[in-house]
Amino acid sequence: MNSLLLSALNGRNKERPPIWFMRQAGRYLPEYRALRAKHSFLEMCHTPEIIVETTKLPIDLLGFDAAILFSDILMVPEAFGQHFRFDEGMGPILEKPLASSDDVKNLTYVPVKESLNFVAQGIQLLKTELKVPLIGFSGAPFTLASYLIEGKTSRDFAKTKQWMLKDPASFQLLLEKLTFAVIDYLNMQIDAGVQALQLFDSWAGILSERHFHAHSMTYLQKIVQGLKDPAIPLIYFCRGSSLFATQIAKMKPHAISLDWNGSLKSTRQKLPNIALQGNLDPDFLYAPKETLKQEVLCLLENMREDQGYIFNLGHGIKPDAPVDSVKQVIELVKNSN
Ligand code: CP3
Repeated sequence: MNSLLLSALNGRNKERPPIWFMRQAGRYLPEYRALRAKHSFLEMCHTPEIIVETTKLPIDLLGFDAAILFSDILMVPEAFGQHFRFDEGMGPILEKPLASSDDVKNLTYVPVKESLNFVAQGIQLLKTELKVPLIGFSGAPFTLASYLIEGKTSRDFAKTKQWMLKDPASFQLLLEKLTFAVIDYLNMQIDAGVQALQLFDSWAGILSERHFHAHSMTYLQKIVQGLKDPAIPLIYFCRGSSLFATQIAKMKPHAISLDWNGSLKSTRQKLPNIALQGNLDPDFLYAPKETLKQEVLCLLENMREDQGYIFNLGHGIKPDAPVDSVKQVIELVKNSN
């Protein structure tokens, strides 16, 4: 069993850093696209055997040190009867986005063991097959709320922010309902056998520092406290994490996944006791080989002998990223001893 990730998450890795990429189980892989040609994305997310096959693709083909469960953050809304569509080239679409405080009051939660049991089944099947740790995940409440209100990926989150400012009570109720579901969902994944968890609060970086505390960190704290096994490490990610790292660390997740705006080295100087993950700009994967190499070596050099460092991108890999560049990065990290 490859234990580099778990050692690093616990700040005790004396070997080379582990490497995995956010969105590693996705469209940049021709083998993913071949599977996708036969099934819709939702069908893939709902079928335990396909969850297993897709999760394993980047491990078997490229040799990452950890697997992330193939699923989507927009599964949790299904537990409230909110089903997203994923149309070709359109991103996720919700038929009837939340529009009033009554819509929030009326959201009824069906426990994940009933509504999302296919995720637990996928994890249980994966456990017998993987030789690397399995990372489970959930969207964080703020990011899930923004999808339920906007109904799709947004450029400016105008509706979400206006709701948050105009009707803070129902916004808070929505975040609380989602937090309850996220805790239940992560605990189901722990029961099923994941060895680490990542919380994607992808869009919380649009908030001011005070609102980031009120609408993201308050709930991160509840989630950290609500997990049934504190030995399962939790990684927190948002765009903006390099700016908010000190605030995030106070909530005591095991690790912060950093975007590429800040430097790993200066974050480490401020925060000596938390694992750090990141933070290659995904666009470097399109750079000339030598440029990519210099950037990767620079990140590795800055975190040399750091016992709590995990190599990753600063955000998810894009669908058209060249696989050869991914292979090059993995090789550089694996030869970095
Ligand atoms: O990391 C992994 O490979 C595991 C699987 C995973 C997916 N989505 C698969 C996926 C994970 C961890 C996610 C998280 C996710 N989903 C986030 C947070 C991460 C981030 O990038 O900030 C968000 C915001 C979503 C919502 C979502 N799902 C969007 C916006 C889209 C469409 C556009 C896009 O980025 O692909 C999806 C669809 C999606 N999720 C696909 C995959 C492989 C593509 C679906 C297809 O094959 O058509």
